[in-house]
Amino acid sequence: MGRTAVLFRSRYGASKQYALMLGRKLNAEVVENEGLTPQLLSSFDTLILVGGVYSGKIAGIELFAKYRNDFSDKSLFVFAVGISPDSPENTELLRKHNLRGALEAVPLFYGRGSFDESVLSFIDRNVVTLARKAAAKAKPEKRSPLEKAFVEPEKKIQWVDESYLEPLCKLLDSNSW
Ligand SMILES: Cc1cc2nc3c(=O)[nH]c(=O)nc-3n(C[C@H](O)[C@H](O)[C@H](O)COP(=O)(O)O)c2cc1C
Repeated sequence: MGRTAVLFRSRYGASKQYALMLGRKLNAEVVENEGLTPQLLSSFDTLILVGGVYSGKIAGIELFAKYRNDFSDKSLFVFAVGISPDSPENTELLRKHNLRGALEAVPLFYGRGSFDESVLSFIDRNVVTLARKAAAKAKPEKRSPLEKAFVEPEKKIQWVDESYLEPLCKLLDSNSW
């Protein structure tokens, strides 16, 4: 695996929590990914992005996309954090929206984060209100898991759990990527 950096991008803390857990498990450096350059990352062999999902986009993915060529000698992994329940369909959708072209082969993992409406920024509150209005128009049985999460919120607002990291850690342990 070589020297490993866990890069994270988090608005409300769940992705940061996962990044710190992962850093401890792998004995890796944990860094916020904003402003990072290939030069700063040149001493690492493995880069793992842990990013929150906002309106379908994994935060921080643009760094991997922009510098894909500079990172061609590195192993890349992505761990996305959202509130949709974990399912193959959800992961597939995230892959379609975020890991296209040169990033197609990057392994993608998922963990549920948190959703506390009382702490949302003004802009995010508006985005969620709009998404909720749109989702409310869909027939309940036709709602996607994310639409359900917005329209029929669970009482629980915190799903962060170390067990979500297991599939990624298993793959890293196996040395078979
Ligand atoms: C404006 C907004 C849009 C969101 N869009 C999605 C989404 O498309 N899919 C999803 O699963 N979760 C979505 N969420 C939930 C976040 O992914 C969840 O709160 C996650 O914990 C964010 O990571 P963070 O805590 O590190 O900021 C959204 C949340 C907000 C505030």
